[in-house]
Amino acid sequence: MVNSPQGENATESGAAPLQGHGLVVADGALGRAMARALLARAPALTVTITGRAPDPRPATRRLLQQAPDRLAYSLLDLCRDEQLASLASQLDHLDRPLRLVVNASGWLHGPAPHQTPEKRLAALRRSALHRSFAVNAWGPVLLAQAVAPSLKQTDGRAWFASLSARVGSIGDNHLGGWYSYRAAKAAQNQLLKTVALEWRRTMPGVCVACLHPGAMDSPLSRPFQARVPPGKLFTPDFSAAALLGVLLALTPQDSGGFWAWDGQPIPW
Ligand SMILES: NC(=O)c1ccc[n+]([C@@H]2O[C@H](COP(=O)([O-])OP(=O)(O)OC[C@H]3O[C@@H](n4cnc5c(N)ncnc54)[C@H](OP(=O)(O)O)[C@@H]3O)[C@@H](O)[C@H]2O)c1
Repeated sequence: MVNSPQGENATESGAAPLQGHGLVVADGALGRAMARALLARAPALTVTITGRAPDPRPATRRLLQQAPDRLAYSLLDLCRDEQLASLASQLDHLDRPLRLVVNASGWLHGPAPHQTPEKRLAALRRSALHRSFAVNAWGPVLLAQAVAPSLKQTDGRAWFASLSARVGSIGDNHLGGWYSYRAAKAAQNQLLKTVALEWRRTMPGVCVACLHPGAMDSPLSRPFQARVPPGKLFTPDFSAAALLGVLLALTPQDSGGFWAWDGQPIPW
């Protein structure tokens, strides 16, 4: 059963309303829900959502039609350097401060049986390791690099969040398996912790956060939902609203942490 969005337990700090521009990377289930949550919660914010196709997919097109003055679409594949450079240039030309970046991209599996998460060491393939690290680890840190010049221009607080996963926690790994996804998310966490330490010196107003959305209904999780206990599978709207509440309650002093949808810190 999928948990509904009501009963959102976001813990927003009551700080000044968000103004400027928000960037949501990836128009998957959580990315679209994040864009919806931002539009609803921050009326003074304009938002760009990115996708890998030159033209938005139908679900994204519907979202764009609902907020034509506040939501725009941009092309971005995090594995393409020229697209990251083009994004940086678009952000550089914004006439509003870049207030918030949420990276909602991720890769867990491709077509079965060859691109399923590894249950055993013997199933591990170089190609899966490469793809998982390219999307789940190198993508987020290269995104941070691309948005840094624009974030640096922003006065006051700003947030850079990227979707990780609890299974990327080394301390919390009691089950094993899923080698390439676990390791790539752990690498993302280390890379973004390192970014947070650098930005603490160079951009003291920015909070960097790795986020876990809970078990959430999406194409990424669909083949593995049978093992989720009843009532524990969230809708993307529920996870997005909860994560946004958690994120906006974080201050620059919290930068460099790993947080779950319910506001609990996750061990590295
Ligand atoms: N769902 C869960 O239960 C769960 C649990 C823990 C963590 N997470 C994390 O939450 C995040 C969002 O996942 P989701 O559940 O919303 O899955 P999703 O609907 O499959 O979305 C994943 C998105 O990542 C995009 N993507 C893949 N490769 C990319 C690349 N090279 N450049 C840019 N975008 C790329 C996909 O684009 P295409 O559609 O074009 O492939 C898709 O839009 C991921 O980081 C995931 O690891 C999810």
